[in-house]
Amino acid sequence: MQTILKPIEVTNNRYRLGYHVAAKSGWINDPNGFCYFKGYYHIFYQHYPFAAEWGPMHWGHARSKDLVHWETLPIALKPGDTEDENGCFSGSAVVHDGKMYLIYTGHHYYPGDDNPDHFWQNQNLAISEDGIHFKKYENNPIIAHAPEDNTQHFRDSKVWYDNGNWYLILGSQGNDNLGRVLLYKSINLIDWKYLGPIAKSNDLKKEGYMWECPDFFTLGDKQVLLMSPQGVESDGIHYNNENETGYVTGNFSYTDNRFERSNFQELDNGHDFYATQTTMAPDGRRLLFGWMDMWGSEFPEKQDGWSGALIFPRELTLKNDRLYMNPVSELKLLRTEELLKGASNIDGEYPLDFSSKQYEALVELDLNKSSEVGFVLTDSNNTKALEFKYSKKNNHVSAERPENDGIREAIIHSTNKIKLHILVDTSSVEIFINDGEATFTERIYSEDTLKFNLVSDGSVTANYDIYQLDSHAVKY
Ligand code: FRU
Repeated sequence: MQTILKPIEVTNNRYRLGYHVAAKSGWINDPNGFCYFKGYYHIFYQHYPFAAEWGPMHWGHARSKDLVHWETLPIALKPGDTEDENGCFSGSAVVHDGKMYLIYTGHHYYPGDDNPDHFWQNQNLAISEDGIHFKKYENNPIIAHAPEDNTQHFRDSKVWYDNGNWYLILGSQGNDNLGRVLLYKSINLIDWKYLGPIAKSNDLKKEGYMWECPDFFTLGDKQVLLMSPQGVESDGIHYNNENETGYVTGNFSYTDNRFERSNFQELDNGHDFYATQTTMAPDGRRLLFGWMDMWGSEFPEKQDGWSGALIFPRELTLKNDRLYMNPVSELKLLRTEELLKGASNIDGEYPLDFSSKQYEALVELDLNKSSEVGFVLTDSNNTKALEFKYSKKNNHVSAERPENDGIREAIIHSTNKIKLHILVDTSSVEIFINDGEATFTERIYSEDTLKFNLVSDGSVTANYDIYQLDSHAVKY
């Protein structure tokens, strides 16, 4: 007899987010299927509705007219059919002939074998006319198996259109145990021809053994390959999370499918950022979502019946081969009130006088006679929930949380002026430094309304402008 599972319920709202996409309840990880279709942005996510733990993957779904107010829709894909028996893993969406096409990975275990590393993966299609109901293609799979020189890692299809053809890339691991990205081509989204790998890890320790969630697009005069490698070893201030998300840039030729590329660079430098996916907005902006968490984290919200969320959507730009990230400009639509605006000379710790759990802080710090500036978020016992610093000595920016999981750092261009755009939601902080040159994405867990204190080790001129943001921008 089949047991009927009931979705888990949220039992406590203490960490629930106000303007970040999360599930009504249960687990989420990677964003999937980010697209614009019939007047709405759509975002899907890896989802398990029956527990606040990873389980057989479904695709949860939300849509928005403006990128910032989201409405949760019914689950779009459920696993259990022959071609996605044990999970509908990550994938993407494209619009073709007025319909939305979801291209996703089917996950399969071998009968009677309970080793979670023994699996195989294929690629499938589901189609929707209205952007709400999805029908799996009756002749799935569209890509039945990995090439012969591949291991079982063969997933996370990302599809795009170029000049009369559809292209699909997949994250994979070659038989030499190195991560790589495979390219396919099609004229109808159904029959796919394998063209070979377009990029590959150069080194197990530096670039990893499996590249999850690849994405590929043109920005300015370059092509960018985004991916989330597993197995990159920590190297000083770099690669200190369990897995990393980063990118390479280069030039891709559609004639011979060659991609000459740069070295791998991290995208965000915080503790909680993984598995990104982009889409192009109708106005040409390259938009990005990511999972605002990291594999291996504790997820204190699990106790409350949910787990995981997506980052606030960002716009990507490329400057001198470096990706810059900034919150999408639609953020302004979430402002409900200006909480505080001012300019002060600070020297030491300087609390800003406002109280909120969902806000945006625009801060400019002119270093004058100071060599270290930043801010700390503190609770009612004055315990630090997050500390951010810029040090002029070595041009390091850093974010540190009290849990013993180490500091995260990045290097920026030398400057006397630090411009911060900070998004705080109930249990998250996103910091955009100097117009997106570096970013830190962090989950923080406190039941208090945290105080915001500017900090410096000498005289600093500070300008600040704080806005309350809509705390019910996501409807479940
Ligand atoms: C990345 C990932 C993907 C996979 C999905 C499964 O976080 O491991 O490679 O498709 O999560 O939920």
